[in-house]
Amino acid sequence: MTSVLILGIETSCDETSAAVVRDGREVLSNVISSQIELHRKTGGVVPEVAAREHAVKLFPVIDSALKKAGISRKSAPEKLYAIAVAKGPGLMTSLLMGMNAATTLALAWKLPLIPVNHIEGHIYANFTESSPKFPIVVLTVSGGHNELILWKGHGKYQFLGSTLDDAAGEAFDKVARLLGLSYPGGPEIQKIAKHGDPTIFPLPIPYPQTFDFSFSGIKTAVLYLLRDLENAGKKITPQIRHDIAASFQESVCEVLSEKLIQAAKKFCAKEIHLAGGVSANTRLREIILKKMQRENFKIKFRCPPLSLCTDNAAMIAMAGYFQFKKNPRKYKKWRIIEPLPNLPIQNWR
Ligand code: KG4
Ligand code: ZN
Repeated sequence: MTSVLILGIETSCDETSAAVVRDGREVLSNVISSQIELHRKTGGVVPEVAAREHAVKLFPVIDSALKKAGISRKSAPEKLYAIAVAKGPGLMTSLLMGMNAATTLALAWKLPLIPVNHIEGHIYANFTESSPKFPIVVLTVSGGHNELILWKGHGKYQFLGSTLDDAAGEAFDKVARLLGLSYPGGPEIQKIAKHGDPTIFPLPIPYPQTFDFSFSGIKTAVLYLLRDLENAGKKITPQIRHDIAASFQESVCEVLSEKLIQAAKKFCAKEIHLAGGVSANTRLREIILKKMQRENFKIKFRCPPLSLCTDNAAMIAMAGYFQFKKNPRKYKKWRIIEPLPNLPIQNWR
C-alpha cells in the first residue's frame, strides 16, 4: 500500500476538523474550525450548541481540507482511498454530525469507512516522524481521558492505570475556572504559571499506589485555599493567582510524569509517548525529560507537534490508516456505524 490518501473527520467535542493524510504519516491538510470563542461564553461546552456549530461548519471544513490537499470534489472518489471518522468517545450529538457526514460521503463516493477511537487518534498523532519501536508506554492526557497504556504493537494495548475521578485536562479546566481564567483552562494556567512561584502555596501531590491517577483532591485543595485566603481578608491578587497556578501545574505534572517514568521502567519500554490535549503543556514535557535524565534513560520520548496535540482530524486519519492496513477487508463493505459516547480502546481483531 503506497500513497494511500485518507480523509479524516473529527467532531467528537468542540472542534470541527477534516484532514487528508498520506500513508498514515504525511499531513497534506488539517483544517480545524474551533468553537472555543462560542463556549467561552458558557465556561464550557454545551452539547447542543456544539452540534449545531458542527452542522454549519463541517462541509466547508471538509471542502477546505480537500482543496488544501490538492483534491477537487470531483476527483475525491478516485484520489481518496478511504474515510476515517471519530466514532467515540465524545459527545453523542457532536459525534453524530461527523459520523453522518462520513457515512454519506463514503456511500456517495463508494469508499471504505473506518471508524476510529478518538483516544487512539491522539495516540497515533505521534506517528508523523519515523516508525516508533514497541513496546511503548503511552500517557493519554486530555479533557475527558487520562490513561497509562503499555502499547505492545498496532492495536495491542495493556491498560496499566487511569483516573479514578477527573482527567488531568478536566482538572486544569476546573481549577482555571476557580482562578477566574477562561475556557479551555490548560493553556491559560500554563501562561500565568510562568510568572508564579510553585513553592508559595504548596498543594498536595495526589499519589495513588497503583498506576491510577486522582485529581479531584487537588482541585478541592485549590478551592479551600482560595476560600481560606478570602476568609483571612486577603485580596486574591494576580500574583497570588500566578503562584497557585504554578503550584497546581507542578503537582499535576509531577504525578503524571512520575507514573509514566515508573511504568516505562517496570515494563522495559523502548519509547515513552505523551498524547492528548495536555501533552501541549511545556512544563509537563520538561519534567518528563528531566526525569528521563535522572533515570539515565536513553530511549526516545515523543509528543505530538503542537498542531496535533488537541483535537484534530489528521490524527483520526493516521489511526485509520493503520487500522485499515491491518485488516482492509473489514472496511470494504459499506455499513451504518453508530457513534459510541463511551467507546473504550479495544485491541484490534
Ligand atoms: O485532547 P483534547 O483537545 O480534547 C479531549 O479529547 O478532551 O484536550 C483538551 C484538554 C482541555 O482540558 C485543555 O485545557 C487541555 O487539553 N490543554 C492543556 C493545554 N492545552 C490544552 N492543558 C494543559 N496545558 C496546555 N498547554
Ligand atoms: Zn481529544
